[in-house]
Amino acid sequence: MEKIGGVGIQQLAEEFQTPLYVYDKEKLEEQCRGYMEHFQCDSLETGVLYASKAFNCKAMIRLIDSFGLYLDVVSGGELYTAKQAGYDCSKVFFHGNNKTTQELEMAIEYCVGTIVVDNLQEAKRLDALLEEKDATMHVLLRINPGIEAHTHEYIVTAHVDSKFGVALAQKELVDETIGFLQDSSRLVFDGLHAHIGSQIFDKQAFIEEIKKMFAFAAELKEKGISVHTINLGGGFAATYTKEDAPIPLPEVCQTILDTCQEENEKIGNVVQRILIEPGRSVAAQAGYMIYTVGDTKKTPNKEYIFVDGGMSDNIRPALYQAKYDAFIAGKSGPTKTVTVAGKCCESGDILIESIELPECRRGDLLVMKTTGAYGYSMASHYNKNLLPPVVFVGNGEATTVIRRETYEDLIRLEV
Ligand code: LLP
Repeated sequence: MEKIGGVGIQQLAEEFQTPLYVYDKEKLEEQCRGYMEHFQCDSLETGVLYASKAFNCKAMIRLIDSFGLYLDVVSGGELYTAKQAGYDCSKVFFHGNNKTTQELEMAIEYCVGTIVVDNLQEAKRLDALLEEKDATMHVLLRINPGIEAHTHEYIVTAHVDSKFGVALAQKELVDETIGFLQDSSRLVFDGLHAHIGSQIFDKQAFIEEIKKMFAFAAELKEKGISVHTINLGGGFAATYTKEDAPIPLPEVCQTILDTCQEENEKIGNVVQRILIEPGRSVAAQAGYMIYTVGDTKKTPNKEYIFVDGGMSDNIRPALYQAKYDAFIAGKSGPTKTVTVAGKCCESGDILIESIELPECRRGDLLVMKTTGAYGYSMASHYNKNLLPPVVFVGNGEATTVIRRETYEDLIRLEV
């Protein structure tokens, strides 16, 4: 592979320097189009929310907007960026297990469409704020259906003791919370939300989730409470290495919609609208990280290739033991097993523990694949490394969407 989005990798590195986050714009568009086309059915309204925690910046928000996706934000910062991007905040869903009072006020002020309420205390805080401001707000309640999707333990969010949502297993608490949402004259209770994990390969996990959600909607119906909307969260996997085989997008959409329609029929079609909120699967595979190879080092048992970035631009290998694939631009031929390490002062700053790469030397460009999700958004200033820029590439043209930091940027908040 010599080019990304029609632009040479060498040219990108020369023009923008490295390390560099590159997005193939067409691939981003393909995912947005794919979700919008395939997540549709006759008997239910549908909607796709982009979970912007995967990669939130103005250009990305404008891109998903142009395909009609709704937006999931989890902080005042993500919401602010959306507003600055010109996104219509009435299409925003605001998530989070501990939204600050300031964030809730901001959501009211920005006329956010829906707040996904995490717990009873938050519901009460929001109700009081709305009363004060003489406003109303559509809400979904995040419930924890107690399903554990098979994924890395740090990113499982739906086990019974999760910090997110109200566990269905805590019956009285769920009833009390929904009772409060129903009775409030300020809160418009639209329905339920759940999210069962990330990087999920197993269809069955989603099927179980849907069954639980609809069974609960049926229980609420018995009590005279109607669930207009069910939001099933995100979690759809991406391909990082050859071992990963995610369910193809059309298939996962079809399975979800078929299961929802079946379950909805069983309960007398109370549910009107189904939402999903993919993050990773929209952004991950469009993203590439270009590094320049620096020194190399042989230790008794290893051969290291050092690159000019590391855990400060991609924390995922260190945090989740995430695996990545990479190649050296413009090089092929016999390979050997090497370890790709970053430049941060931390032994755990290993980007790829073991990979087959051709012989390489200082100045070569190492390109890591599938870095588009939770890379830039989880980047840090560890070691006071500068945040690399982000460019979108398409039709043979590269455009800066986030510029490279300077040392002045780095100390701009210091007094
Ligand atoms: N909706 C909710 C409520 C979520 O909590 C998440 C992700 C998503 C949607 C999007 O999930 P996705 O489609 O991206 O799997 N930093 C971790 C991933 C954390 C995911 C947290 N929640 C990583 O780098 O693997």
